[in-house]
Amino acid sequence: MSHISQQPDERHPMTGNRMDSGDDTGFERHEYDVVVIGAGGAGLRAAIAAHDAGARVAIVCKSLLGKAHTVMAEGGIAASMGNVYPDDNWRVHFRDTMRGGKMLNNWRMAQLHAQEAPERVLELEEWGALFDRTPEGLISQRDFGGHKYARLAHVGDRTGLEMIRTLQQHAVSLGIDVFMECTVTDIFKDGDAVAGAFAYWRETGRFVVFDAPAVVLATGGIGKSYQVTSNSWEYTGDGHALAMKTGASLINMEFVQFHPTGMVWPPSVKGILVTESVRGDGGALKNSEGNRFMFDYIPEYFKSETADSVEEAEGWYADKKNNRRPPELLPRDEVARAINSEIKAGRGSPHGGVFLDIASRRDADFIKRRLPSMYHQFKELADVDITAEPMEVGPTCHYVMGGVEVDADTEQSRVPGLYAAGEVAGGMHGSNRLGGNSLSDLLVFGRRAGESAAAYVQGLKDVRPRIVADDVRLAARTALAPFAIENGGENPYTIQKDLQDVMQRLVGIIRKAEELEESLEEIQKLKDRATRLSVEGHRQYNPGWHLAIDLTNMLIVCECIAKAALERKESRGGHTRDDYPGPDDSWGQVNLVLTLAGGDYSAPVDLEHKPLPQMPDDLRELFDQ
Ligand code: FUM
Repeated sequence: MSHISQQPDERHPMTGNRMDSGDDTGFERHEYDVVVIGAGGAGLRAAIAAHDAGARVAIVCKSLLGKAHTVMAEGGIAASMGNVYPDDNWRVHFRDTMRGGKMLNNWRMAQLHAQEAPERVLELEEWGALFDRTPEGLISQRDFGGHKYARLAHVGDRTGLEMIRTLQQHAVSLGIDVFMECTVTDIFKDGDAVAGAFAYWRETGRFVVFDAPAVVLATGGIGKSYQVTSNSWEYTGDGHALAMKTGASLINMEFVQFHPTGMVWPPSVKGILVTESVRGDGGALKNSEGNRFMFDYIPEYFKSETADSVEEAEGWYADKKNNRRPPELLPRDEVARAINSEIKAGRGSPHGGVFLDIASRRDADFIKRRLPSMYHQFKELADVDITAEPMEVGPTCHYVMGGVEVDADTEQSRVPGLYAAGEVAGGMHGSNRLGGNSLSDLLVFGRRAGESAAAYVQGLKDVRPRIVADDVRLAARTALAPFAIENGGENPYTIQKDLQDVMQRLVGIIRKAEELEESLEEIQKLKDRATRLSVEGHRQYNPGWHLAIDLTNMLIVCECIAKAALERKESRGGHTRDDYPGPDDSWGQVNLVLTLAGGDYSAPVDLEHKPLPQMPDDLRELFDQ
């Protein structure tokens, strides 16, 4: 049986782990083999794998268990089950993924992902996930942008939720310990290797030390660095920043995914996701003149496979055979840019978006059955009946392709004992992620990271790294610093708001050199101001203090995004430069690698160019076809 802790106590009641400090810091203390930070799809799957490999595992998550951005991947899990199209297989999925990422993906990750995704979906079903079925009783598969075939296993438009429910139930039934509402602020090292982690309980503000030679980062993304985002408060780039501070590197940080369709009205719900399933199930994008404008934005790269007239697109909806796909199902970067252009050209909807129309294209029963969450979301939040009227939608920051540079097979970073999986890891999606590839990524690489971490710990035998007591004291002092500044300090909420404004205005969908340079100057000013972050009150449930701690992570991650965006002088995937339109071959084989000298938050980010790993010939041939 697992123990789910929300409160500090003397001794872990189920594991009996020691909770005394073992040094003079007096903090609550636990010992594990593998600590997984984050309890979304990647974290849960990693913990299950590490547990199954014989490791003692804990999950530490800053939110309540079950509350993760995974649930925002609503439309499905991309996996070439071949249930709807027998011609689908991992090679086609691999090819689609690489093309969607504009060939900047780590080819080996894309290969493993495409090969292992179907097995992970079936395993999820064995653990209790209830997928929608085809008339033949097979797992139903839905259309999404950039995928040649319908290949998203789904549960209505609540797939991420069902995935979390299933994994959570499985993890708890295995007896994996969960520390929820507990935020990790530091990772300790012994020499070069991971020795454990430092965290605080959000409720009491008390500190916790985890002795563990392996840590899996599964903290998700960075969406809260932008004003308009589908992400909730947790997504402040914690894992990205922890990795850098521990000596690991980040790649692909210039690539930020703006999901084409977020809600735009009312203001209180701006950014909330409108699933791509609406387009996959027949929804059409229209401007204020009633035109299906996506026909005007079909890029050369996808011309041969995209319908160029309404008639042809409608033919695809009718039989989906030998027809080219509607332009609404182009990859997300293309659709988001097109929507952005329509709005800028003055052809937007009354509240600054465009129209997404499913009402005139599908009957009410179909919409309520296939898109129940969207139906309720619009009804309850915007008083819009999507079975009768169009939705207003616009781009929303949804996902970061960039993350920790890891070994493709093991998910280990360059720091021994430090692993990363899911959104916090880089490489898999290159410059742009295809919808649905996130849930399969979480499962495939979560499992691999958990297994690798457990194997690493077994390999250490009895020589376990030890946490240095001075490091614990330093971590505590650093966390408490905002309480020490009494007069004239900076308010964390003001700095967060200013940072979001800088990122949205200067490092958004369309970028240019002057604005990126300005953003870096502004971020530096915010970093300087953040040295004087000050919070009032005491440590017991103090959201201002929590944000002050998160802000140091956000600032470092934003600097990485802006710096890499300024450096990459081309447009590719989720990075569009007004001053360098179009991709440039000389950049097509380059990763930008970011590190933090000495792991020091206040130091500037270092950036270097690194060639992409070379794809073997048998895979390269897939692109000649
Ligand atoms: O639109 C969606 O349902 C999101 C899916 C994803 O990000 O993979």
